[in-house]
Amino acid sequence: MRRMLLSMTAAVALSLAAGPLQAAEVEVLHWWTSGGEAAALTVLKKDLEAKGVTWKDMPVAGGGGTQAMTVLRARVSSGEPPTAVQMLGFDILDWAEQGVVGDLSETAAADGWDAVVPAALQKFSKYDDKWIAAPVNVHSTNWIWANKAIFDELGLAPPTSWDELIAALDKIKGAGKIALAHGGQNWQDATIFDSVVLTTGGPDFYKKSMIDLDAEALGSDTMKQVFDRMTQLRGYVDPNFPGRDWNLASAMVIKGEAGMQIMGDWAKGEFINAGKKPGTDFLCFRFPGTQGNVTFNSDQFVMFAVGDEGRPAQIELAKAIMSPSFQSAFNKVKGSVPARTDVPVDDFDDCGKKAMADLKEAAASDRLMGSMAHGHAAPAAVKNAVYDVVTNHFNGEIKTSDEAVQQLVAAVQAAQ
Ligand code: BGC
Repeated sequence: MRRMLLSMTAAVALSLAAGPLQAAEVEVLHWWTSGGEAAALTVLKKDLEAKGVTWKDMPVAGGGGTQAMTVLRARVSSGEPPTAVQMLGFDILDWAEQGVVGDLSETAAADGWDAVVPAALQKFSKYDDKWIAAPVNVHSTNWIWANKAIFDELGLAPPTSWDELIAALDKIKGAGKIALAHGGQNWQDATIFDSVVLTTGGPDFYKKSMIDLDAEALGSDTMKQVFDRMTQLRGYVDPNFPGRDWNLASAMVIKGEAGMQIMGDWAKGEFINAGKKPGTDFLCFRFPGTQGNVTFNSDQFVMFAVGDEGRPAQIELAKAIMSPSFQSAFNKVKGSVPARTDVPVDDFDDCGKKAMADLKEAAASDRLMGSMAHGHAAPAAVKNAVYDVVTNHFNGEIKTSDEAVQQLVAAVQAAQ
């Protein structure tokens, strides 16, 4: 498949120079299918429609984008790539390497993207010194979303350590509620895993194991403890968790059926979409023991080579995504923070303000790390290998933490 794509690349010398805007269409492949995500997407659609660009929607459900990437592969190999594709981290670089993506450098230079997009994001927006993607946001995975009424009723404060987290989960369970709202899908298990690795081993361990893929760290006693803790968390999930979508788990917290959800800040989009207010109806706090650190992922839009007539609309889309006013309007609804550093903080709610401050602090102290679960720590083959082990362990198919660690070392090695 890779060879086939490479052979297509010679034909694809795409230079996305800004031209006069014509009535045009963009076909956009994305996985923003939940209520909150759809509300955020509407901000983008409306923005473009106001500029005379028609939006052809191509949604493929599934957090983390694995299913969307499968559909994309099929479209590209049949010679019909969509105009623009939502993409994460290493997937962007992978497609760039195959030479099938457009060059946004002229637009980026004209609009000064270099100066306003943080280096951690540019690492994935650029290939061979060319801008190949427009970053729309920064999300992070080390969050917990909690029902405030349940916390108040049980006299709970946001936990700040593992032990406090377990004590809070016990209290919620003891009160007859579901302690942890979770959906049993591999990427959701892996999203929890990001935080458990970070809190158990600290940032250096996270980097060594998840980013450097150091075999010693992956096979360490610390990693065994991580799996022990995953088993512990599994004990707080309700029996109906297999296959549940993440937004339905968010809804359980929103409705007061469950106390907490461990999920990236796209969960905030669900609370906001349900008319809930941070600090009044729900709480957002960093996964206990991870304050000061951020495991991030950034949604970026990659433009594919669709021929000359498609270019003006692609440029409009890229420009719209990168405009400060759009980044503010969109990210307030999405739950993420702007990919630009020059967007005013004041318009954001308290969770958004916290996310922006945390991101700044983490970036300044070298504690901003790519999320394994969401494609920013390692390429897809490794990510999928981690997904398999984490999910098989969470579901009891891998019986012990010893075995999980052995399989993790082997699977990560085989995937490289
Ligand atoms: C994306 C988010 C999305 C979430 C759930 C993540 O991989 O970065 O934008 O909301 O998946 O669909």
